[in-house]
Amino acid sequence: MTAQGSSQAGNNLDPWYHHYAERAAGLRASEVRALFAVASRPEVVSLAGGMPFVAALPPDLVVNAMERVMREQGPVALQYGSGQGVPALREQILDVMALEGIRAHADDVVVTTGSQHALELVSKLFLDPGDVVISEGPSYVTAMVIFKSYQAEVDHVPMDEHGLIPEALREHIAQLRATGKTIKFLYTIPNFHNPAGVTLSWERRIEILEICRANNILVLEDNPYGLLYFDRPAPAAMRSLEQDGVVYLGTFSKTLAPGFRVGWALAPHAIREKLVLANEAAVLSPSSFSQLVISEYLATANWKAQINTFRGVYHERKNALLNALDEYLPELTWTNPNGGFYVWVTLPPLLNSKAMLPRAVKELVAYTPGTAFFANGDGQQNIRLSFCYPTPAEIRVGVRRLATVVRDELDLLETFAGTGSLDPVRTPGRFNPLPTDIS
Ligand SMILES: Cc1ncc(COP(=O)(O)O)c(C=O)c1O
Repeated sequence: MTAQGSSQAGNNLDPWYHHYAERAAGLRASEVRALFAVASRPEVVSLAGGMPFVAALPPDLVVNAMERVMREQGPVALQYGSGQGVPALREQILDVMALEGIRAHADDVVVTTGSQHALELVSKLFLDPGDVVISEGPSYVTAMVIFKSYQAEVDHVPMDEHGLIPEALREHIAQLRATGKTIKFLYTIPNFHNPAGVTLSWERRIEILEICRANNILVLEDNPYGLLYFDRPAPAAMRSLEQDGVVYLGTFSKTLAPGFRVGWALAPHAIREKLVLANEAAVLSPSSFSQLVISEYLATANWKAQINTFRGVYHERKNALLNALDEYLPELTWTNPNGGFYVWVTLPPLLNSKAMLPRAVKELVAYTPGTAFFANGDGQQNIRLSFCYPTPAEIRVGVRRLATVVRDELDLLETFAGTGSLDPVRTPGRFNPLPTDIS
């Protein structure tokens, strides 16, 4: 079949170009995704992706759970299930969330195909074209891809080393309302932020919830990394303080393995009912097999000890990254996360993280340019470094290579523009770590 008529005839690459719905325009390969192809070459040290180090999970733990599931519940595991998720797993998810101060009812938990799918479902329920989602600046790339695919606008509120700045949130809400915009929700990653690495303080959690309550704005709390803390746990979840105004998202991707594709949403009653319907419409039911294996794993393995193992691995890798930055790139500034996978680095003035990337890949190191994490083109002076996947030794090599790239770029600038200052700039209104947060 070909498209009819010249006005609808597509383009050279895609004959259906003019047939797509408007919302499909927002679906472009993210910079992170495009990078995966390059960064997966074995000679490249990738500090770019956010892949959990699943090799730290003993395979037997999963194999045993799978075997038992298939022997004891095979026909159920291989069958369609409930659109809300397996009841036993929803009960166990309550135990997981209790570790972050959340008390809830299993009726209000909806199991999804990763928390990514929960983001999609919430967006589907709430976003009309032209609506605004407020998020931290920077924010999680693939959440923004979803928001844009529903033709919503993303408004970034700045952060500092204590997370989202409440005063700035107030100002943004007032400005958006003054221009007649409809704000649908605040999307926030309070713990070990992706990509900024910072954690929202307890006081600010309270204040931000108050602001949202006063302005009738729903909070979408995305918490994939909360249990992966290093020295001390993060403050309790925002959902522990407020039930009616928060949709909370969790996942087994980082504390177990992303291959299962099991996450969940905990939502106020009415929203939960709609989420179940949307989940059924999208996937009929999340994978019965994955859910039962995870349920068996939680019931029989020491899952808390396994999370401790992951925490130890990531802590060691974070230290390796920060030590290498101290040694090879002391002129830069960076955040010092107390958990999670990411460090946010600020480059010297005039360096452009996106323009520098091809040179970095040529030097066999990959990172994610800061521009990927802003909907508005900001972030040129930032890069996100992930320490989750490469070994400490590889991280060291990667940072040494990155230092070569940064120095070469600065030399070029000095040669052609007569400027080579290594003093980091602090741009007002943009996320820049304050001195206390810099190693
Ligand atoms: C902030 C954030 N939210 C959601 C996700 C999606 O996780 P999953 O769909 O694997 O649960 C990720 C994955 O990296 C993430 O970093």
